[in-house]
Amino acid sequence: MVVVVRQSTFSQSHEKANGVDLYPWLKALHLVAVISWMAGLLYLPRLYVYHCAQAPGSEASETFKVMERKLLRYIMNPAMIVSFALGFWLIWELGSGAWSLGWLHAKLALVLVLAVMHGLMAKWRRDFELDRNQHSSGFYRVMNEVPTVLMIGIVILAVVQPF
Ligand code: HEM
Repeated sequence: MVVVVRQSTFSQSHEKANGVDLYPWLKALHLVAVISWMAGLLYLPRLYVYHCAQAPGSEASETFKVMERKLLRYIMNPAMIVSFALGFWLIWELGSGAWSLGWLHAKLALVLVLAVMHGLMAKWRRDFELDRNQHSSGFYRVMNEVPTVLMIGIVILAVVQPF
């Protein structure tokens, strides 16, 4: 008889001594953090699209600067840090066998690209802050699609775990 054990089953064997299974709580909080991070990654380039149409120094441009700074500083940066911290805590809970999971390697590679996008968005925000934006609204429209495509790949890898 062949017994197939799904990798998610492997994640369910972390009953704690006090009877509370920490794993699903970590995963739930990981998803809350990831959703918050993604909301920012999808919205910030959209703000840049509209910001491009404003004259530097105008009241509207200054308002966009405040919105962009607050979104990045108070939502996206903390949400990214919490997503990473809880993600690596989940890996630690899974044990050393987790590092041989193919889907996890692929997911981490895509997450790394997402983090690079985050860094680029932070750079573009500084450029806007100094009235030195160098890109067109069309550029930001295209950049807006990158996190969407990455998110689709990451969620399929994490949920379907195809390899
Ligand atoms: C360094 C960053 C990250 C690490 C280390 C990480 C790691 C993990 C781990 C180990 C799990 C548990 C998998 C299981 O129990 O089967 C998980 C779950 C999940 N992660 Fe991440 N993750 C990270 C970032 C992200 C991002 C950016 C997204 C989405 C854009 C994401 C989406 C998910 C989803 C949807 C699940 C639930 C999968 C399920 O149980 O069906 N993760 N993550």
